[in-house]
Amino acid sequence: MNDLTPDSKERSTNLKGLGCSRKRVEDVRFVQGKGNYVDDIKLPGMLHGDFVRSPYAHARVISINKEAALALPGVVAVLTAEDLAPLGLHWMPTLAGDKQMVLADGKVLFQGQEVAYVVANDRYIAADAVELVEVEYEELPVLTDPFEALNSDVVLREDLEGQTEGAHGPRKHHNHIFTWEQGEEEATNQVLDSAEVVVTESMYYHRTHPCPLETCGAVASMDAVTGKLTLYGTFQAPHAIRTVVSLISGIEEHNIRVISPDIGGGFGNKVGAYSGYVCSVVASIVTGKPVKWVEDRIENLMTTAFARDYWMTGKIAATKEGKITGLHCQVTADHGGFDACADPTKFPAGFMNICTGSYDIPTAYLAVDGVYTNKAPGGVSYRCSFRVTEAVYFIERMIEVLAIELDMDAAELRRINFIKKEQFPYQSALGWEYDSGDYHRAWDKAMEAVGYQGLRKEQAERVEAFKRGETRKLMGIGLTHFTEIVGAGPVKNCDILGLGMFDSCEIRIHPTGSAIARLGTISQGQGHATTFAQILASEIGLPADSITIEEGDTDTAPYGLGTYGSRSTPVAGAATAMAGRKIRAKAQMIAAYLLEVHDDDVEFDVDRFAVKGAPERFKTMKEIAFAAYNQAIPGLEPGLEAVSYYDPPNMTYPFGAYVCVMDIDVDTGVTEIRRFYALDDCGTRINPMIIEGQVHGGLTEALAVALGQEIAYDEQGNVKTGTLMDFFLPTAWEVPNYETDHTVTPSPHHPIGAKGVGESPHVGGVPCFSNAVHDAFRAFGLRHTNMPHDHWRIWRTANELGLHG
Ligand code: CDP
Repeated sequence: MNDLTPDSKERSTNLKGLGCSRKRVEDVRFVQGKGNYVDDIKLPGMLHGDFVRSPYAHARVISINKEAALALPGVVAVLTAEDLAPLGLHWMPTLAGDKQMVLADGKVLFQGQEVAYVVANDRYIAADAVELVEVEYEELPVLTDPFEALNSDVVLREDLEGQTEGAHGPRKHHNHIFTWEQGEEEATNQVLDSAEVVVTESMYYHRTHPCPLETCGAVASMDAVTGKLTLYGTFQAPHAIRTVVSLISGIEEHNIRVISPDIGGGFGNKVGAYSGYVCSVVASIVTGKPVKWVEDRIENLMTTAFARDYWMTGKIAATKEGKITGLHCQVTADHGGFDACADPTKFPAGFMNICTGSYDIPTAYLAVDGVYTNKAPGGVSYRCSFRVTEAVYFIERMIEVLAIELDMDAAELRRINFIKKEQFPYQSALGWEYDSGDYHRAWDKAMEAVGYQGLRKEQAERVEAFKRGETRKLMGIGLTHFTEIVGAGPVKNCDILGLGMFDSCEIRIHPTGSAIARLGTISQGQGHATTFAQILASEIGLPADSITIEEGDTDTAPYGLGTYGSRSTPVAGAATAMAGRKIRAKAQMIAAYLLEVHDDDVEFDVDRFAVKGAPERFKTMKEIAFAAYNQAIPGLEPGLEAVSYYDPPNMTYPFGAYVCVMDIDVDTGVTEIRRFYALDDCGTRINPMIIEGQVHGGLTEALAVALGQEIAYDEQGNVKTGTLMDFFLPTAWEVPNYETDHTVTPSPHHPIGAKGVGESPHVGGVPCFSNAVHDAFRAFGLRHTNMPHDHWRIWRTANELGLHG
């Protein structure tokens, strides 16, 4: 070594490991239009499928006449439930323990439901043939309101008639799915009965939709010679899809290869199984040709998995000084025609029991009733971890309402109820063990960054000016402190269809010191190819640029449960670090052998093993890699490979403090976001630039949901917001400048201390935008009004408060 020898710091920088804002490697192909999405896949002789869908929300299917469609040149087949029934494929299991019609079997339960599947030589002929299929329907009474559904004589699910037990316990009514209870009901009621202050509020978290830019699709290709089915698709969980396809088709799992190519956004929408996948597989088996199905935007919005649709009533008990003593939450959950929620088996309402939020609430009770209605099935965690968005919205609104009741500052009310740093690991009243947090530090930093006291002063002056008639604009200060729960999950309490929610990473180091790592997850834009290589770079001392990350091919990737609910970093990220550590352990033995010292006499130093006390004697990881292939230690296998299947001991609990400053024009209802400050704590930060990108994206989807995005139905069950003309998807025009910030509180149980982040900004953003709207009207008596806060609804609120003169 001499003065020119790079020191540890420089060598570490060269690796582009943890903490480096490494540029996204995948973007090279995306920005050149060279991504490979499902619709880019074109196989020889490929046919195209399209659905005949129900115009009615509830109707009996009297007859289906395929003749005219089959007579159209280029049409190869028209499948109905009758054709699928002999194969037992006219119904399929849902992820929630229910079953769902693949094609209408006797009746339809929501508008847009799949009735017949047309297969043709091209996409246009298929669409023309759809028009030629004649379906006779008999309309039935429509139920779009879950409360009405629970009192109605109309039986939606005739297939379940008489069944008093469902997948999640007793059913109270023929349109009832389950009741899920958590916490202590009696104790909570006692606290509420004897409390100094109790507030009750009801809120509707409206139905919305993840609306990924790329819609759902699949290409099924059955090779009649080898008997192997290859299924390309927009799958957030390719291995789980392979297992489900095997279970329902009877094809052995080794004969199914599922490939998720590039995916243009998932946000939960691409977790479940859709009729399009099943019908494409059947059509490929029947015709012997590859079959592609790609839905259009209207089909995506109307029929694939929705999000939210929770009617929540809360009661919160507190002392006069504002110390919260109890929380009661009752939810009626509209699940649509089939219970196809994507939640771990033991959590039919997801992680709604994180609804005590960031607060030390000693006693709590939650009950959720799932209900069938004539709406599309789904219930996915749209950029959130299994209903955490609903839970955080609920508690953050309840805190605001309590602040109004107590005539207290909402920031101070939060402060006095936060779980304290020294209380971690913290056992919540509804059953979770929060791993780590320092909420006071984050909150104080946020308050200082935005100049909170100054904002309140300005707001009070604005109210006075408004009253004097000097302005027509009010100012709202939206506050939120959220706690997320991500990284499902420990196998002992989290599974989907019996598959434990572990994840995996397999690493192969090549002789020249570069590597490939394969994972059970699948990126949909999060940048896994960039960040997982960074974790490895720090663990195994090879540059991130020399490590290929591969996901999404079940023939090559180790089994994993996929990417959703911000589980990739907490679970697969941990598997990556653990597999890296196995590589390092073997590398240590090789290094010691080469340096002719005992294993314990070498130590890892960034990109090498060096003799303790003699750093000039070392072997770099590159040298060790080569040695692993040509100078194997006697008695030790050659090669340098490792695999880890990681079952996390707990979930991770990222958190954040958000502030939104909003001006509202009382006469038009137009909102202007003047400032949005987002402080996120996701433990150890792998790539700060990617984290910032995730925060911007999540906040933008939060803005959409809070300020306009919804899937609305009329009384006949018609979807009123089935196109992007009506469904609000924000563009750069509506999006404000976001200020991001962070604190770092590592997870004590994650190998590198990282927590997830992808969903935090959405989870924290929705209540923050909503609280800003509410806060603007607080001085004029507003307690709660339901989202989405579009201009018209805000105008109406102002009108109801008598602010229009
Ligand atoms: O499961 P999903 O990929 O959607 O979410 P995530 O685990 O929160 O990761 C989203 C992106 O942020 C990935 O590229 C992660 O590697 C990155 N990330 C990070 O850089 N540092 C963290 N502490 C957490 C996530």
